[in-house]
Amino acid sequence: MIEFIDVYKSFNDHEVLKGLTFKVNQGESFAIIGRSGCGKSVTLKLMTGLLKPDKGKVIIDGIDITKATPGKLAQVRKKFGFLFQSGALLNSLNVGDNIALPLREHRELPEPKIMGRVSETLKRLGLKHLEHIMPGELSGGMKKRVSLARAIIREPEIILYDEPTTGLDPIMCNVINKLIVEMRQKLKITSIVVTHDMNTVFMAADRVVLLYQGKIISAGTAAEFKKMGDAYVKQFVLGEAAGPFQDEDELKLKEKSGE
Ligand SMILES: Nc1ncnc2c1ncn2[C@@H]1O[C@H](COP(=O)(O)OP(=O)(O)OP(=O)(O)O)[C@@H](O)[C@H]1O
Ligand SMILES: [Mg+2]
Repeated sequence: MIEFIDVYKSFNDHEVLKGLTFKVNQGESFAIIGRSGCGKSVTLKLMTGLLKPDKGKVIIDGIDITKATPGKLAQVRKKFGFLFQSGALLNSLNVGDNIALPLREHRELPEPKIMGRVSETLKRLGLKHLEHIMPGELSGGMKKRVSLARAIIREPEIILYDEPTTGLDPIMCNVINKLIVEMRQKLKITSIVVTHDMNTVFMAADRVVLLYQGKIISAGTAAEFKKMGDAYVKQFVLGEAAGPFQDEDELKLKEKSGE
């Protein structure tokens, strides 16, 4: 369903991705983990064509989107629901209209049915009757869930979750993790989950990759990750300060100063 082949991406002279290669099968739940700044969000943006790689191929359902015409790209984008890390709610629209946006954009459902679907989705995320509230009045965790509602409302073929549980309390994290599992089991949706939350990985992912210095340095099933002896995986999974990882931001600064 999704394939990256030797993808490179730099910003100015900072090389973020340096030969990223992986494949995600249809219906699979695939987690991308790695330290802050390693290029996880950039990877998701490359997947939907929001960013273009400098080199390499990004193939979605058989189409290389790096070479696709704008019309074709728009068609491919329809397959995706995207939970942005920042939430990306429109502050001028109330919660209901924010969540309804993808449905209205793709005109898949008649207008009278849209609000029914919105309230159903809100209920699923423990946000009943919030349609008329403005985003500015919501707590951080509520904003996250509203953004999640917007990402899943169309029940798209592929959902990209960029840190779905960050900023949520543990109980709500569990609700979201269960929702990710449910979306995959019931609707056979392909999911890509970028997360720092190892509970999400162990609960909701079939396979995991660990990104470091622009590449995948470890890959395996979630169960394999749990017991993997690899020093990088161990440090990441256990969240230890001491270990082989260097700080991505420090590396970036070093690269800039030519060290
Ligand atoms: N549009 C952009 N312009 C310039 N630099 C960018 C841009 N987007 C990302 N970067 C840089 O690319 C690197 C990777 O960013 P990215 O957002 O993918 O990190 P991340 O792995 O998602 O980190 P986090 O876990 O903190 O969200 C960072 O150094 C960031 O500053
Ligand atoms: Mg990110």
